[in-house]
Amino acid sequence: MATNPGVPDQDEATLRLAREAVAAGDPTGWFEPLYDAASRGEAVVPWARGGPHPMLLDWAEDWELERGGSPDGAGRSAMVPGVGPGWDSELLASYGYATTGFDVSPTAVRAVREAHPKSAVDYRVADLFELPAEWIGAFDLVAEVMTVQSMPRGQVRARATAAVRSLVAPGGTLLVIGVNLPTGTPLDQGPPWCLTPAEIEAFAADDVALRRIVESEDHVRYRAEFVRAE
Ligand SMILES: C[S@@+](CC[C@H](N)C(=O)[O-])C[C@H]1O[C@@H](n2cnc3c(N)ncnc32)[C@H](O)[C@@H]1O
Repeated sequence: MATNPGVPDQDEATLRLAREAVAAGDPTGWFEPLYDAASRGEAVVPWARGGPHPMLLDWAEDWELERGGSPDGAGRSAMVPGVGPGWDSELLASYGYATTGFDVSPTAVRAVREAHPKSAVDYRVADLFELPAEWIGAFDLVAEVMTVQSMPRGQVRARATAAVRSLVAPGGTLLVIGVNLPTGTPLDQGPPWCLTPAEIEAFAADDVALRRIVESEDHVRYRAEFVRAE
């Protein structure tokens, strides 16, 4: 398993843990061991950026250009599935969204609570594949940042896509942020298993439609925006 170009460095521990879990048919079974190893200084969490994802900041800038002011989250709810270190959820909460973030890794959730002790975000341990019923169709904004691409295609890709989509409320917005699949990358190579254009567009189903896809200037990253009908 090789590191994909254009994505943060992934150390040996990450690649080994991911490879073992995927081979054992447990494609999301490597996250808790990774966060646990990182908590002991024995691994690096590759997506610990220390700040919000640049494409989420870009979304906020576009909001300002197009509508004026910061994103207006007052009276609205937001969800960040696979919340990890929490910088994206913290950003959305700073705009006034009543924000929830969840992660399958208890160690990650413990760490994010400790890292943001005064946070307004409701951080939860939960599994994307066993979502609480009250979260279905409940969020005005869902920000999916590199979580689906962290799961191998073939095993859980379609289920993960549908589960993320299911969180969006009527009239709500879904942001899907990730790394473009580098040209020539074998589809079974990962992590990350970057989404193909067709896999990005697959978030549009039921009454959820693609609004636009915005790329970073260097074309390495993208933000796809979807809306659910009222
Ligand atoms: C590539 S990381 C991205 C983290 C975060 N969104 C970010 O950009 O910093 C993927 C995250 O999804 C979480 N995750 C993986 N499988 C999950 C599942 N089935 N349910 C909930 N979270 C999951 C992992 O623990 C990890 O924190």
